[in-house]
Amino acid sequence: MSNSARLAARDSVALMAGYHSPQLDVAVRLNTNESPTPPPEGWADEVRAALADIDWHRYPDRGAHELRAALARHERVAPEQVFAANGSNEVLQCLLLAFGGPGRKALAFEPTYALHSHIAGLTATEMVSGERNGDFTLDADQAIAMVGRHRPAVTFLCSPNNPTGMVEPPDLAMRLLEHVSALPGILLVDEAYGQFNPHSAVGEVDESRPLAVSRTYSKTWSMAAARLGYLVAPTWVVAELDKVALPYHLDAFKQVAGRLALAYEDDMKARVAELVAERERLAAGLDSLPVRQWPSGANFILFRPDSGDGDGVWQRLVDRSVLVRNCSSWPRLAGCLRVTVGTPAENDAFLAALREVL
Ligand SMILES: Cc1ncc(COP(=O)(O)O)c(C=O)c1O
Repeated sequence: MSNSARLAARDSVALMAGYHSPQLDVAVRLNTNESPTPPPEGWADEVRAALADIDWHRYPDRGAHELRAALARHERVAPEQVFAANGSNEVLQCLLLAFGGPGRKALAFEPTYALHSHIAGLTATEMVSGERNGDFTLDADQAIAMVGRHRPAVTFLCSPNNPTGMVEPPDLAMRLLEHVSALPGILLVDEAYGQFNPHSAVGEVDESRPLAVSRTYSKTWSMAAARLGYLVAPTWVVAELDKVALPYHLDAFKQVAGRLALAYEDDMKARVAELVAERERLAAGLDSLPVRQWPSGANFILFRPDSGDGDGVWQRLVDRSVLVRNCSSWPRLAGCLRVTVGTPAENDAFLAALREVL
C-alpha cells in the first residue's frame, strides 16, 4: 500500500507532538515526581490476599461502589460526589469529554501541567492560555479577566502547580470560582500534589458550586504503577463523567488496591512529612549553588542554573547517572530543570553531582 492511501489522523491529532517523558537507565531517577518509596508492606500483603477473592471471569463492579464509598469517607463527601478513573489524567479526559469538546473552550494558566492542554487537544476543546507573571505567580485580576473574555467551559487551576511547584493562595481559587460560576463553567483544581500542601480545595466542594478537585494515588500514595486517580465534585458533574467513561474502565484489581490503601493514611502522611523535610533540605542545598529556584509546595523543585545552560547541566547530570526533568526547551521555562524529591541518599547524590557540574 502506498503512503498516499493511508488515512491521516484528524488535524488536531496529526499535528500533535504526543506526550513524551523520556526514561533513561540511571542510578538516580528524579524526573517524574513519583514517590521514592513503595507503599506499606501491610498494604501489599492485604492486596495479595484480596486478589484470591476476585472473580476473574466476571466484569468488575462498573460503578466502583466500594472504592468510591471509601474515597468519600476519606474526603468527607458523599459517594455520589466521587468519580474514579485510570489516573487523574483519565479523570481530566472524562471531564473534557463531558464538558469540553467542539465549540467549547478550556483555560489554563501557563506554565502549567502539559496534559491540560494536551487533553484539550485530544477532545477537540479549544485551548486558551493565560499567562503567569515572570515569577510564575498568577495575577488574580488578569485571570478573572481571561475568564470573562473567553467564557471557558472548563478553567484549570493546578495547585501546587506542576512544573513550578508553586501554591496558589486559597482565596484566588474562590475568586475565580465566583466568575466561572456566573458563565456558567466549571473550575477544575488539579491537586495531584495536594497532600504536600496544608490547604486543599476539597473542603470547598459543594452542590451549589461548579468546583471540581482532582487527586491521584500516583504521588503521595506511592501507587503510580496502579494508575488510579479521582475527582471530588458536585453530583451533577460526577453523573456526566459516569456517562463518558468506558464501561468497566476500572479493573477489579485497582478498585481493591485503591480501597485498601486508604486504611494506611497515617503511613501516607508520614511519607509526605519525610518528603517535605527532604524538599526543604534540597532547597537549602540549592540555595548554596549558583541556581535560581522557585518555592515549592510539592514533591519537586524547579530550578534554573545561573549559566542558563539547562541542556548542558542536564546532560552532565545524566553523565553522573542522575536524571532530572529537562524543561529547558519548554515554552516560558528556558534553561529550567525540575528535580523530584527522592530518598535522602538520592537527594545527596543529586546535590553532589550538581555541585560538581556547576
Ligand atoms: C499536575 C498533575 N496532574 C495530574 C497528573 C497525572 O497523574 P496520574 O494520571 O498519574 O494520576 C500529574 C502527573 O504527573 C500531574 O503532575
